[in-house]
Amino acid sequence: MAERVVAQKAPETPRPSVSESKGAELSQASEAKIRMETRDLSVHYGSATGVRDVSLPIYDKKVTALIGPSGCGKTTFLRALNRMHDLTRGARVTGQALLDGEDIYAKGVDPVTIRRKVGMVFQKPTPFPTMSIFDNVVAGLKLVGVRNRDVLDGVAERALKQAALWDEVKDRLRTPGGSLSGGQQQRLSIARALAVEPEVLLMDEPTSSLDPQSTKRIEELIETLKHDVTIVIVTHNMQQAARVSDYTAFFYVGELIEYNDTNTMFTNPREKRTEDYITGRFG
Ligand SMILES: Nc1ncnc2c1ncn2[C@@H]1O[C@H](COP(=O)(O)OP(=O)(O)O)[C@@H](O)[C@H]1O
Ligand SMILES: [Mg+2]
Repeated sequence: MAERVVAQKAPETPRPSVSESKGAELSQASEAKIRMETRDLSVHYGSATGVRDVSLPIYDKKVTALIGPSGCGKTTFLRALNRMHDLTRGARVTGQALLDGEDIYAKGVDPVTIRRKVGMVFQKPTPFPTMSIFDNVVAGLKLVGVRNRDVLDGVAERALKQAALWDEVKDRLRTPGGSLSGGQQQRLSIARALAVEPEVLLMDEPTSSLDPQSTKRIEELIETLKHDVTIVIVTHNMQQAARVSDYTAFFYVGELIEYNDTNTMFTNPREKRTEDYITGRFG
């Protein structure tokens, strides 16, 4: 079943509402552990700058949202967190990105290991369409040489359950990934990312090609997933950022303008540019 592509509009309400439970949750934030952290991180594309001097903490088992107008560097920053730019010709990263206190750009660090610890889910669902649902989920494990049937079965079930897809596919694991709806395919992409047990999950506008119902499912899923993994999500939907995230970082023309807990960010931003953006004055 094909799902509609929904154009997402600029926010209509002046300020997205933030769930009330968040205040209490965040009052304990001082005890929260930092899982990742960037220090003066910049990404250059040839002579152009994607993001400049970004220093940002990413708290363990929390959701950090990256917001800002198109072209401000959200994707660029996200990709720097698992060394995806290594694969982009002409891209150059400077500064540091620490994972558990270790710089992922330090000499001798294997980018493949980093990408296993820091997984990624893209804007468009990325299943291999002709590959079975099962094989899609365990593709990453097979790549690193896991062949044991029981292990693969166990991981597939665990990952599909974590991605809230198990009940819908458990009787058709051998059918092609491409036979699923768009929303299911995105959850399949999430299951594939989770199969290798990442510590951090990066999501680049994961619901922008999905209908409202599927979007809601993914948002609910994020809420559950953060008990197990640290999540960084790029979204251009202000309501979504307010609903799903604990912390928000606002980017503008390649710079981090403001970072705060989501509640404060949406109710009492420090910067006028943040205020203007979240109230829909530009975007
Ligand atoms: N592969 C690339 N080569 C050159 N410039 C790029 C590349 N990817 C992104 N950029 C540029 O970097 C800036 C930030 O882009 P991007 O991170 O995609 O923004 P966002 O995700 O916030 O829309 C933009 O000016 C964009 O044109
Ligand atoms: Mg982007």
